Amino acid sequence: MVNEQKNNKEEILKILYLAKGEMISGVSLSDDLNISRVAVWKHIKALKESGFDVESRPKGYALLNHDDLLLPFCFKKEFQNKIFHFQELESTMDKAKFLAKNNVSHLSVVIAENQTTGRGRLNRKWFSSKGGLWFTLILKPNTPPPLSYIYNFAASLSLSKSLKRLFDVNVSVKWPNDLLLNGKKLVGLLSEMETRGDMVEFINIGIGINVNNQPQKYEPKAISLKDVLNKTVSRRLILETFLDDFKNRIQIIDCQKIIDLWKEQTSTIGSQVRIETISDAYEGLAVDVDESGALMVKDKTEKIKKIIYGDCFHT
Ligand code: BTN
Repeated sequence: MVNEQKNNKEEILKILYLAKGEMISGVSLSDDLNISRVAVWKHIKALKESGFDVESRPKGYALLNHDDLLLPFCFKKEFQNKIFHFQELESTMDKAKFLAKNNVSHLSVVIAENQTTGRGRLNRKWFSSKGGLWFTLILKPNTPPPLSYIYNFAASLSLSKSLKRLFDVNVSVKWPNDLLLNGKKLVGLLSEMETRGDMVEFINIGIGINVNNQPQKYEPKAISLKDVLNKTVSRRLILETFLDDFKNRIQIIDCQKIIDLWKEQTSTIGSQVRIETISDAYEGLAVDVDESGALMVKDKTEKIKKIIYGDCFHT
C-alpha cells in the first residue's frame, strides 16, 4: 500500500512533468491512475508539502518548475538508474558513502534538495538551502590511490567548462577545486575516498553549486548564478551537461592533459595567495601547478615552495 502511494505520487509527477507546465485536470489524473479525484487531491497535497512546486487551479494541476526537476525519469536514459534523489538529507556525502559500499555503479549521483548538515572542507559547515544543486558523485575507478587526486581536477575542469558553455559566465577555478565568479565562491568540492587493498574502492566527490539559492549573509564571499544572471536556471541542465563532459573526460586518464586544461581555467596561477593548512600558513605568488596537482608558491625570497594541500585565499 505504501509503495502503491509512492508510485501514484511519482506517476502524477511524471504526468505533470511531461505536460511541461500545462494544466492537467484532476479528472484526467484520476482516470490515468485509476484512483478517485479525492485521492489525486491528497497526493498533490502531499507532493506540495514535500516541496514540489505544484500549482492547483479549478482547471487542474501544473508543475511550475518542470525543467528544474531532478527526479531520475527527467534525465536522459543512460543516467536514469544512476540518479538517487532525496528531498532532504543530512548530507549527500553520508548517503553516497552508504550507497558506494552497497554496490551502486560507477558515476552514480546522490542529490538532495536540502541538506540539514551539509559539510564543507576542513570540517566547515556547508549551508545548503533549497534552490542550490547539492550532490555527490560516486566514482569507482579502477585506479590506485595516488591517482585519485586527478578526478577532483577533472571535476572542477568539467564544471568550469560546462558553466561557461551554458551561461557564458566568467568562472575560474581556484586551487585546488573551488569555482569562483566575480571573485566569490560559486562552487565548492569536497572529496572522500576509501581504498581496498592496493586500489581505490570509491571516490565520492561532493559538489555544491549555488544556482537559484540565495547564499546566506554568513557566507559573505559566496555568490549564486541567479545573483549574476538575474533569473532562475535549470539545475538539471547543469547536472546533465556536467555529467556528459566529466564522463568523457575520465574515459582515458591522462594526468598531464587534465592538469594542462585545468590550468587554462584557473585564476590562482599569477595571483598572490595565502595558503592555510592545519598547522601552517604560507604567502606568496602562485606560479604553477605541477602534474601531481601541487601548487608552487614563490615567497619574498624567491624560494619556491611546493604545497600539496590547504585552503587557498587569493589576497
Ligand atoms: C567546500 O568548499 O568547503 C566544499 C563544499 C562541498 C559542499 C557539497 S554540497 C554536496 C555535498 N554534500 C555535503 O555535505 N557537502 C558537499
